[in-house]
Amino acid sequence: MTAPVLAVEDLRVQLRTPRGTAHVVNGLDYTVGPGETVAVVGESGSGKSVSVLALMGLLPARTATVTGRALLQGEDLLAMSPDRLRQVRGPGIGMVFQDPMTSLNPVLTVGRQLVEGIRAHQQVTRQAARARAVELLAEVGLPDPQRAVDRYPHELSGGMRQRVVIAIALSNSPALLVADEATTALDVTVQAQIIDLVERLQSEHGTGVVWITHDLGVVAGIADRVLVMYGGRCVEDGTVDDVLERPAHPYTRGLLGALPDLAEPLSDGRRPDLATIPGVPPPPTDLPAGCVFWPRCPVRGDARCETEQPPLAFVESLSRATGSSLPHRAATWCGEGAR
Ligand SMILES: Nc1ncnc2c1ncn2[C@@H]1O[C@H](COP(=O)(O)OP(=O)(O)OP(=O)(O)O)[C@@H](O)[C@H]1O
Ligand SMILES: [Mg+2]
Repeated sequence: MTAPVLAVEDLRVQLRTPRGTAHVVNGLDYTVGPGETVAVVGESGSGKSVSVLALMGLLPARTATVTGRALLQGEDLLAMSPDRLRQVRGPGIGMVFQDPMTSLNPVLTVGRQLVEGIRAHQQVTRQAARARAVELLAEVGLPDPQRAVDRYPHELSGGMRQRVVIAIALSNSPALLVADEATTALDVTVQAQIIDLVERLQSEHGTGVVWITHDLGVVAGIADRVLVMYGGRCVEDGTVDDVLERPAHPYTRGLLGALPDLAEPLSDGRRPDLATIPGVPPPPTDLPAGCVFWPRCPVRGDARCETEQPPLAFVESLSRATGSSLPHRAATWCGEGAR
């Protein structure tokens, strides 16, 4: 087996809040192989964004406690000096945040930001970097890239800014791309174009991708594996076929519940989102004892659900039938396990 691009081991994040300690990420383990795409799904507040911000050292140091390991090509991101982290951002990790304005500098033109990002990590002339910047803007589908390169972020629409952020994230051909709802605000055609671009980067450079999304059409279309988060934990992970076709955890089944057909866009051209499950997720300052999902679980019954946390255990895998050894795991002992 080839070495993973990213190996996350027992990642935990606690945030101090006025309402007490928020246990936002509670022991996450996963790997991303070269060229592989891992989709991270789960309801709002399940800790998806915080879990990736922690990897990049982007949580406020005063209030956040991050533990565990996150090996990027063998080197622990959580133990890196700020200088080393700066070197790694770019060629090591490219990141697209949920809100594009947080990652753009409002006082610099788009071109300047791209050129500086490229020249910080690659030995190229300013001219060559600018030419590459225009090319990247064209690749992410920005209209009139020759002019857009001299624009300031506030002169662009939200969708255009998002594409600029994607261009910056891809500009140093990163080993790992972390995309947090990167294409959610974009129309389907542009989204498809960006996904093509990312897939090309993956086949050319072996880029590993962590793709956070609510959009199951995107999951079905691009992911190799899926990680389902709830209450800051992974409640299920496995190949895209295993998780979407044979969901073993009642939470995953709930998310997939009202799904029409994954492959079919809706009548307005959009893809279906995760379904709604009755009730709301627990606040991270007050997680239930036992299984995080039990207060909302339609099949709870076992007394252990309320007192013991079910471990992430292997469940039936479709891929095993095809000779693949990729695991399918779920943190459940309820119901009949995997169907
Ligand atoms: N800086 C912060 N201080 C305190 N609590 C925070 C902070 N950032 C996030 N949280 C809390 O951590 C939990 C997880 O938030 P996170 O943003 O990771 O969720 P998410 O899964 O990305 O949700 P969404 O799908 O809405 O983007 C939420 O309960 C949120 O309120
Ligand atoms: Mg988020």
